[in-house]
Amino acid sequence: LTSRSEDIYDALAPHYREYSEKKSLYLKAVDKYIVDRVSSGKRSLLDVGAGDGIRGMDIARQCGIGYTVLCEPSAEMVKKCEQLKPSQIWQTTAENLPDSDKKFDVALCLWNVLGHLPNRSARVQALARIRELLTEDGMLFFDVNNRHNASSYGMLEVLKRTAIDFVSFDEKRGDASFDWKIGDKVFPAMGHLFTPKEIEDIIKESGLKIKDRVSVNYASGAVSKQPWRGQLLYRIEK
Ligand SMILES: C[S@@+](CC[C@H](N)C(=O)[O-])C[C@H]1O[C@@H](n2cnc3c(N)ncnc32)[C@H](O)[C@@H]1O
Repeated sequence: LTSRSEDIYDALAPHYREYSEKKSLYLKAVDKYIVDRVSSGKRSLLDVGAGDGIRGMDIARQCGIGYTVLCEPSAEMVKKCEQLKPSQIWQTTAENLPDSDKKFDVALCLWNVLGHLPNRSARVQALARIRELLTEDGMLFFDVNNRHNASSYGMLEVLKRTAIDFVSFDEKRGDASFDWKIGDKVFPAMGHLFTPKEIEDIIKESGLKIKDRVSVNYASGAVSKQPWRGQLLYRIEK
């Protein structure tokens, strides 16, 4: 049995900055890609699965965006978000995003948040909810872990995976179980890794459109057009 994601992130909250620092080359490269693509004059930002809120608020500041909503299910992460004084906090999951009259110019869903959702239909639902919350020319940016990432798993393994997935795709092969040691506790955890085709089918089904896709090397932050060179980062529109 795996632990609830909320329990894991509640436990991680006090260590979350330190944990993020270890991946800072990757995270900064993703942030830069986003900031470079948000044109001036955007006013509102929604960060789904915001964690401690630091990244979403920093991206908003760099883009000159004043109205910020941080959405996050973990109560301890929400307490971290509160310290940053966003315009609003929604303590909920991506698949349960509320209806809102307020629409957003920019939405974020960063660092494999979609891989934390329980299954494909929850992922489609989450993206469809985000779609509803975007303005007509709003943009969504998200990144997910790539099961066909040759810089992490080696080209030979990725060619093998690609061939098997082509013949008979099974999303369960992307569910990774692992023990996560946080402080003095060990949590049985689960995370999902996506193939490019899998996540792109999910995007399509949610009614959203891909404007651009790059890969970002998980160790160095190098950005590439080749999808096997890193995690998958998408720029999406309605
Ligand atoms: C790796 S962290 C990334 C946090 C933040 N986006 C960042 O880049 O620093 C994943 C986050 O997803 C949140 N999360 C887990 N399940 C979720 C769900 N169903 N909906 C929204 N967020 C979720 C976790 O609580 C955690 O804060």
